[in-house]
Amino acid sequence: MSEAKKRAAEKALDYVEDGMIVGVGTGSTVAYFIDALAAWKDRIAGAVSSSEQSTARLLSHGIEVLDLNNAGRLSLYVDGADEVDPRKCLIKGGGAALTREKVIAEASERFVCIIDPSKRVDVLGKFPLPIEVVPMARSLVAREILRLTGGQPVWRDGVVTDNGNVILDLHNLRITEPLVLERELNQVPGVVSVGLFARRPADIVIIGGEPLLVL
Ligand code: 5RP
Repeated sequence: MSEAKKRAAEKALDYVEDGMIVGVGTGSTVAYFIDALAAWKDRIAGAVSSSEQSTARLLSHGIEVLDLNNAGRLSLYVDGADEVDPRKCLIKGGGAALTREKVIAEASERFVCIIDPSKRVDVLGKFPLPIEVVPMARSLVAREILRLTGGQPVWRDGVVTDNGNVILDLHNLRITEPLVLERELNQVPGVVSVGLFARRPADIVIIGGEPLLVL
């Protein structure tokens, strides 16, 4: 799958333009994108990063990393996903970076999602849905989301997000109404963000298989 991820990542360079500040996601597919973006480092104005991991990789290539507060609205955000449905709604957060990813996606005009073919699904939910939670609310949120969804929350033990929070992975879902579920879960006190990207889905999905597809 790594060849497919690399192909998708390199295709995303088609959307980069001179002078842009590029929003950059997190994960192994995005790592290929950052490596490819290095060739553009003198042509772009910099990047806004969604994680400490991506920041370190960007800086290692000499790409300037900017604060979103100073960057304003972005033209382009490039990120991977754990699942993508036919409406370009996503599950994200396998790398625990969902909150900052969601913020940057919201701040961007165009969200280009780069995946290998295994991420494409008809219905979201086989991949456990990551939910970032304030640590002291972990048990409360777990009980409440079990009650609301019937899904099985599992604490991603040992993982602390870049924001100092914890992750609950919600198993056994079949998400036919992603927007409704995203809204419902966002209401639970203690939830920081939900790895469902339905309110702000991807605009373009690049699937780096053979043949390469741009949807
Ligand atoms: C990180 C993410 C990633 O985009 C997602 O987990 C996909 O990762 P990869 O490109 O390594 O398959 O949401 O929080």
